[in-house]
Parts: sequence; C-alpha cells; structure tokens
Amino acid sequence: MQSLLEKFKDFIDISPNTPRISLGEGDTPLVWSRMFDQKYGFPNVYFKLESCNPTGSFKDRGMVVAVAKALEKKAKVIICSSTGNTSASASAYGGRYGLKTVVLIPSTDVPISKLAQSIICGAHVVRISGSFDNAMAMVKALEDSSVLTVVNSINTDRIEGQKTAAFEIVDDLGDAPDYVCLPVGNGGNIYAYWRGFHDFALKAVSSKQPKLMGFQASGSAPIVDQERVLSPKTIASAIRIGNPANWEKAVMAVRESNGLISKVTDREIIDAWQMLASQEGIFCEPSSAAGVAGLLKLIHNQQLSAQQSIVCIITGTGLKDVSLVEQSDIQSSKPFQVINDLSELQVFLRKL
Ligand code: F0G
Repeated sequence: MQSLLEKFKDFIDISPNTPRISLGEGDTPLVWSRMFDQKYGFPNVYFKLESCNPTGSFKDRGMVVAVAKALEKKAKVIICSSTGNTSASASAYGGRYGLKTVVLIPSTDVPISKLAQSIICGAHVVRISGSFDNAMAMVKALEDSSVLTVVNSINTDRIEGQKTAAFEIVDDLGDAPDYVCLPVGNGGNIYAYWRGFHDFALKAVSSKQPKLMGFQASGSAPIVDQERVLSPKTIASAIRIGNPANWEKAVMAVRESNGLISKVTDREIIDAWQMLASQEGIFCEPSSAAGVAGLLKLIHNQQLSAQQSIVCIITGTGLKDVSLVEQSDIQSSKPFQVINDLSELQVFLRKL
C-alpha cells in the first residue's frame, strides 16, 4: 500500500529525503448517513471515519509526518502533552521507528484504554499535575530544544499531515462539501482542514471550500466564550482544553471559511454519541460526537438547507473511552439479563 507521505508528496511540505514511513494511516472511509436522510431529510450527510486510523484517531495522519521529519533531522526523542490520542499515536510511531517517546498527560481523567496504548508501546508516561493546559505549557517551553522534537499540533508538520483528510474528502466526493462539522480542542485539526481545502481549491482540484463548523463542549469552550477556562469540564475528555494551543489559527480557519465555532452541552454530546452508535453503527469517542451534536443543533435551528453536502469528522473510536457507556444515562440501554437455560432464552426472545 502506498504511504500517505508518498501519495500526497506534492501537496505536503516534505522533501525527497523525508523517509516514507507508514503504519497504514489515512485512506479512511467516508460513510453515507442513513439517519440524517431518513429522520431529518438531509440526504447528503457523510461521516469521515478517522477512527479507522492505526491507533484509532486522526492523530496518526499528522504523527506520521512529524515522526518522518524527526527521523530526517536525526532526532532521538519525541515528546508531547496529550489528552490521550496524541500520546497513543506518538507512542506507536515512536516505538516502531526507534525514538524515545515521552508523553505528558493530565493527572486525572485520561481513559485507561488510551493510556494502555502508550504503556504497551513502551513510551515514558508522565502525569502532570492539573489539566492538559499545564502539560501543554511545559511542552511549549521545550519547543526550541535541539534534542527533543515536540509532536503536538504546534509542530507544523502535524498540520501538514492532517491536511490529507481534506484531500481524501474531495477525492471521494468529487468536490469539496458545503460544510464540515468537527469537534475542537486545541484547534489544530480545524486549521488543518482549512489548509487542506484551501490548497485543493487554489490548485483547482476543487471548485469551492466548505464552511468549517467547529464545536466545543460547553464546560470547556474558551474560543466560543472568548476567554481561557481555568478548570475545563466535560465528559468529552479529548477536548477538555481551556487554553487551546492553536486558538488564533482555529479562529482564522472559521473566519476565512465563513463557518462558525459554537458549543454543545454534555447532554447533547451524549445523545448524539448514542444515536450514532444505535442508528448508524458508528461507535465513536464522546468528543467525536460533539461535531454531530453540533450538526443536529444547526438542523433543529433551521440554519442549513437539506440539499447541502455535509461531512462530520469522526475523530476517534469509541473503544478509547468505554467507561462512559456504564456511567451515562443512555436511554436505550437495557440491564444485562442472566439466562440459565434454553427455555428461559426462548421466553426472553418471544418478548423482544
Ligand atoms: N477529537 C479527538 C478524538 C481528539 O483526541 C482531539 C484532540 C480532538 C477531537 C480535537 O482536536 O485539538 O486538533 O482541536 N486531542 C488532543 C490529544 C488534544 O492530546 O489527543 P484539536
């Protein structure tokens, strides 16, 4: 299979000397939505399943470029702060390509399934007191080090790689969609989509650029509320960020694309998350559902017209954060039943 680096070499900032490493990232499915068609009368809604990347999130697209560039520069150590997905991705690529990997995670609330990915890959996992923002501040202070390569999205190589998701959407649809809905944490991904769609429009590969619709969780919405959040709170742990590292770039992406940045409540996120699983068969991270919750809100508020083409980015897999399945008040969840024999099973089946 052709590596993402080779496939998009003319569109991303790499040189002939950049090693064409790969863990099979990219080329993720674009799946048509039954639910938005049948329930809401929107026949052109799609999900981009970034959860199908090798470590289960979109981070792999950016990480492959960041790690390739680190190898090109003969770096020995990569470091990142993370709410769990960047660290999982850095750990996988770092392990595979023989780089020492240090990941700084907030002292609480990183789901064990994400941590497990770093631990099993042999990364050095360090807990930092406080929230993600404290860890990010430390990493930023190390950015100029000659020994370490920072692989957070403040590293522009990450953005180069993440642009490729926009290229794939244009390739699959034959043109750019009208809207792209996605969750926003640090703001790197929404900026990367803007860059990707902008590049393709400039080179006339596509005829237009989509409006980028970013959604933060309401207890953790510094960009929407235009003020840092000291103790960000939301069930969507991946986007629990009070001081986004790419704040200005995210605002620029929204402004230039005529999009918007708005917020959704935890209740709306959980409802969208559960609907995606039960009605579309897509089990994503709660954070990924924020973009879909946002789209539902726009439709309810009659801010969109039905024929427009819309892509929701499913940023990470649900298997990364399963604790919420038990914790949440999920309407359709039914208690487990214990059945002792075939006749009890037959009674149970008759009652379905
Ligand atoms: N969705 C998921 C699943 C994420 O892991 C993240 C960010 C986002 C959305 C937001 O993307 O930060 O580019 O605006 N996760 C980072 C991490 C912070 O450390 O894994 P963003």
